[in-house]
Amino acid sequence: MKILMVCLGNICRSPLAEEVMRSKIEKYGLNAEVDSCGLGGWHVGEPPDDRAQRTALKHGLNISHQKCRKITLNDFDDFDVIYAMDNEIFRNLSQIAIPARKPQEKIKLFMNELYPNENRPVPDPYSGGMSQFEEVWKMIDAGCEGIAKRM
Ligand code: 4NP
Repeated sequence: MKILMVCLGNICRSPLAEEVMRSKIEKYGLNAEVDSCGLGGWHVGEPPDDRAQRTALKHGLNISHQKCRKITLNDFDDFDVIYAMDNEIFRNLSQIAIPARKPQEKIKLFMNELYPNENRPVPDPYSGGMSQFEEVWKMIDAGCEGIAKRM
């Protein structure tokens, strides 16, 4: 099972989701791989945002090795499930997949594995402070736990 976590910049939410999911894969011994990317190319090649790095470290995960990349059409073939962090990301992923005839049923709203009938986007913390990153961490940790338990 190949899992792709997608946010806007690939420096805040999806790098956290990538590493948290990797830790759950290890914790539960799952046969899965995980990667992350962004819709935008503003930070390509950069490590995650310093606030995301500090939040991860606080919870025992190091994300400093990650490098920002932008989504490609091949990602829709290479991954089995593509998790969008919020509704705008979900819509944008569909808008990329549909005209390119890529399988849009692979695209899911991240928090829907934990709360199937609710709309709970992971909010963009980029213009927020450390408390926003902590909130995002909590959602992502719970969301990844939900994904792992369904696997
Ligand atoms: P992310 O946050 O989507 O969680 O990585 C953002 C990071 C960068 C930007 C926007 C959101 N940006 O506009 O550069």
